[in-house]
Amino acid sequence: MIIAKSINELYEAKKNLIGSIGFVPTMGALHNGHISLIRRAKDENKIVIVSIFVNPTQFLEGEDFSTYPRKDLADIEICKMSKVDILFMPSINSMYKKDELIIMAPSIGGYVLDGASRPKHFDGMLQIVMKLLNLTSATKAYFGKKDAQQLALIKQMVNHYFLDVEIVECEIIRECNGLAMSSRNSYLSPKDKIRALTIFQSLNLAISMIFKKELNTKIIKQEMKKVLSKVDKIEYIEIVNRDFHSLESVELQGTIILVAVYIGDTRLIDNIWI
Ligand code: PAJ
Repeated sequence: MIIAKSINELYEAKKNLIGSIGFVPTMGALHNGHISLIRRAKDENKIVIVSIFVNPTQFLEGEDFSTYPRKDLADIEICKMSKVDILFMPSINSMYKKDELIIMAPSIGGYVLDGASRPKHFDGMLQIVMKLLNLTSATKAYFGKKDAQQLALIKQMVNHYFLDVEIVECEIIRECNGLAMSSRNSYLSPKDKIRALTIFQSLNLAISMIFKKELNTKIIKQEMKKVLSKVDKIEYIEIVNRDFHSLESVELQGTIILVAVYIGDTRLIDNIWI
C-alpha cells in the first residue's frame, strides 16, 4: 500500500496503477462501516483509493473539529489489511487555496434536516468531495446510506456538474445491538450507548407500524418520539421521500425515516430506507 501525503505523491502513485478506480472518502477513525465500503470497492474495482481527511470546512464553529477522533496509525493498519492500494492523507494546506471558489449546497435540499441545524456543513462537505473526486479520478465512489442527506447531495452534485463518476450507495453497518457504527460513538460512555440504542428501536417501531399498515407519518413520528424519551434532545424525526420532501403518508417504495438526537453533547444520526 502506498501512503500519499501530498497531491504530487497521489499523482505519482496513480501513474503506476492501471484499471478502474474505486474510491472511499473518509475522515478516519475507521470502523466496520468504513471497512464495508472499502470491501465493496475492492470487489468491484482493480484499484482502491481511500482518503483520510478531517475536513475543516464541513465543521461549524463550536463543533468537534479539534477533538474529532484521529487514529492514523490504526487506520493505516486497517487499510493495509483491507488491501487498499493508495491511502491518501493530505494536509489541510494542500487541499485549500486562498480565496477559495465555493461550492454551495442547494438552498432547499442543503438547508433542511442536518443542513438546518448545521448551516454550511453541506457546502463544505460538497467542496471537499468535489476536490477528492477530481484528484482521484475515481470510476466509482462509495458512500454510506448512514449519511442519507449527504449521499443525496453528492448524487445531485455529480449530476449537476456532469462528473464522470458512479456513486455507489452502501448499506448501514450496525453493532450487534443495532447501534449504527460511527466514529463519534467513541464519545459515548457505556451508559450513553444504552440510551443511544433507543434510536434504532424507534426506527424499528416505525417499520413495524408500517407493516401493520399505519402510514400516517404524524402518528408514526409521535410513537417514535415516545421511544426516544431517554435521549437528551431530539433534533428531528422525519419521514421523507428520496428527494427529501417531507411526507404526510408513507410511500411504500422510496421512503426514508430519519432521526437526529443528542446524547449529552454527542449528535447522532440514523435512518432506515423503505
Ligand atoms: P465519515 O463520517 O468518515 O464517513 C465516510 C463514509 O463512511 C461516508 O460515506 C459514510 O456514510 C460512511 N459510513 C459511516 N458510518 C457508516 C456505517 N455505519 N455504515 C455504512 N457506512 C458508513 O462522511 C464523511 O466521513 C465525510 O463527510 C466525507 C464524505 C469523507 C467528506 O469529508
